[in-house]
This record gives sequence, structure tokens and C-alpha cells, in this order.
Amino acid sequence: MKISEIIKLSNEKLKNIEYVDPTREAIEIISHVLLADENEILLSNDLEINDNDLEEIKDLIELRSSGEPLQYVLNRAYFYNRKFYIDNRALIPRYDTEHLLYRTLEISKDFKNPDILEVGAGSGAISITLNLELENARIEACDISNDALEVCNINQELHNSDVNFFYSDLFGNVVKKYDIIISNPPYIKKSDLSLIPKETLKEPLNALDGGEDGLDFYKEITKESIDYLKDGGYLIYEIGFDEAYDVYEIMNKYEFKNINIDKDFQNLDRVIYGKKG
Ligand SMILES: C[S@@+](CC[C@H](N)C(=O)[O-])C[C@H]1O[C@@H](n2cnc3c(N)ncnc32)[C@H](O)[C@@H]1O
Repeated sequence: MKISEIIKLSNEKLKNIEYVDPTREAIEIISHVLLADENEILLSNDLEINDNDLEEIKDLIELRSSGEPLQYVLNRAYFYNRKFYIDNRALIPRYDTEHLLYRTLEISKDFKNPDILEVGAGSGAISITLNLELENARIEACDISNDALEVCNINQELHNSDVNFFYSDLFGNVVKKYDIIISNPPYIKKSDLSLIPKETLKEPLNALDGGEDGLDFYKEITKESIDYLKDGGYLIYEIGFDEAYDVYEIMNKYEFKNINIDKDFQNLDRVIYGKKG
């Protein structure tokens, strides 16, 4: 079978999936299996694929056509220009979450040797990136999901990083104080879970479900963080586009100062941060 024929087949198989560009995805799958650059694939319409590779490509297209996110199909996701391992044990790191990283990198400059804790590590992409970007920081990250922590450890090995990943239900196993606590907690309202794309529902539910009003984790983490932040330390969150006002009120209630909000590239509220007064 030629590459052009595989692309046609992929278009047929993937046409009914939400939010998909079937040609683009076919090219990604083919280049993944052939270990080739995507540009090379684009220039090789007439290249015949051998039987083994063809079988693997067809299997991956089939899996994708069942609604499995492409990142899980190919076991890879990109974050801050680095490639991370991913599978359905952890949330796929999102491009939008890079805003949380930018703000954390910026605030870290206020500290000589920042001690940073991430609550809800997921794939580990944020904490590993912080570890690789910040020479003088000590990064720790916890999660309640042992599955997610296994993915963190795969990524830790892949990037030769030095994050202390540990199991904890919020601050249950946290024993020290930090300069910065960050979190991209589950923040989807329970009633909205039925509205999100089917693909997103292939991701772990405990990475998505933020309770009745989507704010359960902001309320709990903000309250508890007071005991685990040093004086002058920062709490930094990713938030849903419509949650800034509510999370501001929660942080205000626990007397965080200088509360600010960052917008994402679509001009939506994306990150909120404040200082323990
Ligand atoms: C929205 S995901 C964020 C993952 C990752 N930080 C990212 O941004 O890609 C939320 C994470 O919080 C974790 N989580 C949920 N409940 C938790 C709890 N009670 N204590 C610690 N982590 C929790 C989930 O397992 C999930 O990995």
C-alpha cells in the first residue's frame, strides 16, 4: 500500500471523530511507525509501505478511530517543546498549561533556591520541566493516583530529571513548607462532564472532576496551603476560563495578597496567583 492510499483510508476511518484532522493525524501515525520526519512523509506519496509497518499503521488508525486520543495512541505528548511519554494512566499535558509554567518560572526569580511543590502531578510534565529549567530549585510533586505516578517515573527516567514524586491525597503526606505551591487541579463541574468531548472522557476521571461547582480542589488546596507555604510564599493555579472570580474570592478569604490573573493566548483567564501575606 502507498502512503497516499493509507491517508485515504485514514480519512475514511477518522471522519466521524470530533475535532480531528484525519490527514494530519495519518501523517503523524505513519511518521511515528516509519521513524521518519513528517516532512519526508509529505514528500513520499508514492512510497510503498512494507507489510509489517502497514499492519502497525492500520492498528494505530483503528485504535484512533475508536476515539482514543492521538497522544495515547502514539504514547507521546509535547510540553514546553519537550517530548513526554503518556498513556491513559495520566492526563495529557495541555498547551494551555504552559501559562502555569511561565508564571511559575517568573515567580521563581524572586527566590534564590526556590522550594516548589506541585499538587496533582499527572504525567509529571510541569514538574520535570521546572526541574530542567530551574537550576537552583528543588521540585517535589505529589498525586493521589499511583497510575499517574508511574507515568511520572517513566518521564523522570526519559529526561534524567530529579523531581521528588510521591503519593499524597492533597497535603496528607506533605511534611515541609515551600516557597511556591502550584496546581492544575481537576476543575470541571460535575454537571459539565457529560458535555466535554468524548476523547477527553478517555482521560482519568479523577484528573477532571472538580465537584459540583468545579471548585472543590481550589477550596481545599487554598485552605491547606497556608500551613505548607513559607511566609511570602506563592500559590499558583491553572483555572477554568470562567473560574477566576470564584477562585479569587477563595484566595482572598484565606488572606492571600497581590492576587493576579494571567490570560491565555485566546484572552481567557487561565492562571491565578497570590502571595501568602
Ligand atoms: C488536571 S490533572 C493535572 C495533571 C498535570 N499537573 C497537568 O497539568 O498535566 C489533576 C491531577 O490531580 C490529581 N489528583 C486528583 N485528586 C487528588 C488529590 N486528592 N490529591 C492529589 N492529587 C490529586 C489527579 O490524579 C491528576 O493527576
